[in-house]
Amino acid sequence: RVVVLDFGGQYNQLIARRIRDEGVFSEMVPYQTSAEKIKEMAPKGIVFSGGPASVFAEGAPTCDPAIFELGIPILGICYGMQLISAHFGAKVDRAQKREYGKADVEIVSDSPLFQGQGETESVWMSHSDVVTLPPEGFQVDGRTPSAPVAAMSDPDRKVYAVQFHPEVRHTQNGNEMIRRFLYEVCGCAGNWSMESFIEDTVAELRQQIGDKRVLCALSGGVDSSVVAALIHRAIGDQLTCVFVDHGLLRKGEAEGVMRNLADHFHMNVILVDAKDRFLGKLKGVMDPEQKRKIIGNEFIRVFEEETEKLGKHHYLAQGTLYTDVVESGTETAQTIKSHHNVGGLPEDMQMDLVEPVNTLFKDEVRKVGEELGLPREIVWRQPFPGPGLGIRVIGEVTEDKLEIVRESDAILRDEIKNHGLDQEVWQYFTTLPDFRSVGVMGDARTYAYTVGIRAVTSIDGMTADWARIPHEVLERISNRIINEVDGVNRVVYDITSKPPSTIEWE
Ligand code: XMP
Repeated sequence: RVVVLDFGGQYNQLIARRIRDEGVFSEMVPYQTSAEKIKEMAPKGIVFSGGPASVFAEGAPTCDPAIFELGIPILGICYGMQLISAHFGAKVDRAQKREYGKADVEIVSDSPLFQGQGETESVWMSHSDVVTLPPEGFQVDGRTPSAPVAAMSDPDRKVYAVQFHPEVRHTQNGNEMIRRFLYEVCGCAGNWSMESFIEDTVAELRQQIGDKRVLCALSGGVDSSVVAALIHRAIGDQLTCVFVDHGLLRKGEAEGVMRNLADHFHMNVILVDAKDRFLGKLKGVMDPEQKRKIIGNEFIRVFEEETEKLGKHHYLAQGTLYTDVVESGTETAQTIKSHHNVGGLPEDMQMDLVEPVNTLFKDEVRKVGEELGLPREIVWRQPFPGPGLGIRVIGEVTEDKLEIVRESDAILRDEIKNHGLDQEVWQYFTTLPDFRSVGVMGDARTYAYTVGIRAVTSIDGMTADWARIPHEVLERISNRIINEVDGVNRVVYDITSKPPSTIEWE
């Protein structure tokens, strides 16, 4: 594996992604992680990520200096390069002007990172400080007119650094540079795959769980189904699965999921009807973060009560993804929204968590699902958030409003499927904003709700673009929603990407 020390840069997730795409497992850890802890993780290489700070700033993040003594190859990117420079006593200056965008780097050494590439490389720069003189023992590998040291290395100490971002697509040979660092410098074997993930994970689960019992929170989606299948493979009947109907599900969902699970899952699955208690707790609550926390809390309470009935279950298994962890806020990343299964958990939880896919991205979980032989309907089901329609009714959740979202969402899903777009569009749903507007229907004035259509393309949900659904299809969806759903007189289509928006509206 390769460890990425996270200094808070906006492209850091991509570094972990690119490394995995090269067949090497990689994981991000906060920049404060001690050298001792890193040594325990036994990585083949360490990457220092970019970050928003200036090394000159007071309290600028630094790493444990003992990391440089571990003898493990290091690659510093952007801020990571400045940190390496500062550590080894190089001259770092504030640039006259910020360099941002494409740049051509002239390669001036035979560094293994750039072997077989051009004399100049087109790269993506985004920085304000520049290294003007490399530290002692370091050679200059590349330069641009405004960055005299755009890449540098000390092959003896196996420390490499680049001022630009090899992880973004705009750096033409970025993948090649990362690959060369992994294979030529770190000597990685490149044998990380979903098969090896399954094998390792099942063995770890067996060891972690021992003879204890596990309750798995199953939603019928790919993440929790993969988790259930992995745990079942590890410990068999010590596993019980629970599907909670919290009243925030889509039309026909509870029945559909239970049927699907009965057909394909040879495990014990219990359905809990918790509609009233969830809706009761959400009464009068407007704030999205508060709603998420209430739902996350209530889920856990339901599971705890189930274990009282079923006998002690020591562990609670969840399909938490890497994305959920990052977006719920880590030591270095800001909280975007509290995913119900991470930031929404109560503090006094009685069960310990088992989250075997919390280092994976969505597309990786799907690969694991295929590898495990789960049926297509489960593996390729569009994502549906745990808090369900609770975060698609904007503001207070009421039964009337849920009904509007349920019905309009069913029409949208139906039409997307009828037009063969369900594979192309990654996620699609309707939302109900908390306002009404004026319309005219059959000569009469109406004052009714607006339904928002959200449809996006994405790979892992970290970034997304709005789907270009043909106008005729949108027209049909709009007509059907107006005609078939009571209380709606307007339909709008969300044409923002993520970022700057998020996929869900709350
Ligand atoms: P956002 O809205 O953050 O969504 O761009 C990214 C993906 O995550 C899903 N999502 C959640 N999934 N619990 C979940 O299980 C949550 O609290 C949650 N919030 C968002 C969202 O549907 C999208 O696929």
